[in-house]
Amino acid sequence: MARRDRLMTPTPLSDLKPVRDRLRGIGDVLDPKDAEEPILAPAVRAAVKGWLDEIRARDALAAVGLKPRSSALLSGPPGCGKTTLAHHLAARLGYPLVTVGAEHIVTSSLGGSEGNVAKLFATIESLDQPVILFIDEIDAIGSKRRDSSGDTGGAVTAMNSTLTVLLRRLEAFGGTMIAATNRADTLDPALWRRFGMQIVVDLPDEDARWAILKRYGLPYIFADEALDALAGLTENAAPSLLRQLMEGVKRRLVLGAMQGSLPASLVEAVAAVVAETQPHPDYDQPPLWARQASSSQIISNISAGQAWPPARQEA
Ligand SMILES: Nc1ncnc2c1ncn2[C@@H]1O[C@H](COP(=O)(O)OP(=O)(O)OP(=O)(O)O)[C@@H](O)[C@H]1O
Ligand SMILES: [Mg+2]
Repeated sequence: MARRDRLMTPTPLSDLKPVRDRLRGIGDVLDPKDAEEPILAPAVRAAVKGWLDEIRARDALAAVGLKPRSSALLSGPPGCGKTTLAHHLAARLGYPLVTVGAEHIVTSSLGGSEGNVAKLFATIESLDQPVILFIDEIDAIGSKRRDSSGDTGGAVTAMNSTLTVLLRRLEAFGGTMIAATNRADTLDPALWRRFGMQIVVDLPDEDARWAILKRYGLPYIFADEALDALAGLTENAAPSLLRQLMEGVKRRLVLGAMQGSLPASLVEAVAAVVAETQPHPDYDQPPLWARQASSSQIISNISAGQAWPPARQEA
């Protein structure tokens, strides 16, 4: 098999057991075959494609003394697809994703966090098969160094030295690494500069919201006009919330049909989901939730042209 094809061939689940055993307590191993492709802004898609091309062209780049960039920092609000994108990227390369969260690294024992960082990198480097390392919530160990004078409890000193170990290990790391944060502004500048790319995975624009609503509405077919109206009313909504909205509607379609209590229209189904979900108060409220959907007219557009109950796509 050509090298390129091998890189594109997902690792079978059975091959992951030894990796999972080695990484027990150090990180979770996600199977490439479970990955989903996130719906992304064109600029992010282009950056991701460029990086994948570069990694696959490793040999051609080496011939002119270049290496593919080995790391990327994903930042952006919660629920916009950072973890989904990291998993998808790893799957496109055919590698498992080793996800490491703050809970795997940060401990209150003296020197414990530094030790965990060192152990993480040593273990990844000693694996027989390539993996992509994903450090989630990297702000938990990578926030700006602080002055440790007067640090009676030793917490600041411990955080500073954990970051120093991380910087050193990253510098020496030969593999591919992705990190994510939704607090980019708190990251240490030295850590920031270690990444070959800093990609912002932001809230979706109207076109992206439309595509996300459609995807999570499947297998039900929602009319374009209904999706237009919903996409217009969900500005500031993260994809995770859009998914929750459409899954709530689908749940009502299935259970309503079983129990003879089908919502009367798409508007009614959406209103029921909106009543039991709430975006985090720190973020701007989408009009659908803020009920400043300046008119019932817009809301009623949700049902415009929508067959009810909606047809289901053929399997
Ligand atoms: N861009 C997207 N396209 C399609 N689905 C998405 C997208 N972003 C998020 N989702 C869906 O929302 C859920 C949460 O996404 P994910 O965990 O990737 O977000 P995140 O940015 O990592 O959030 P956090 O900052 O909380 O870790 C997933 O189930 C995923 O399927
Ligand atoms: Mg995440």
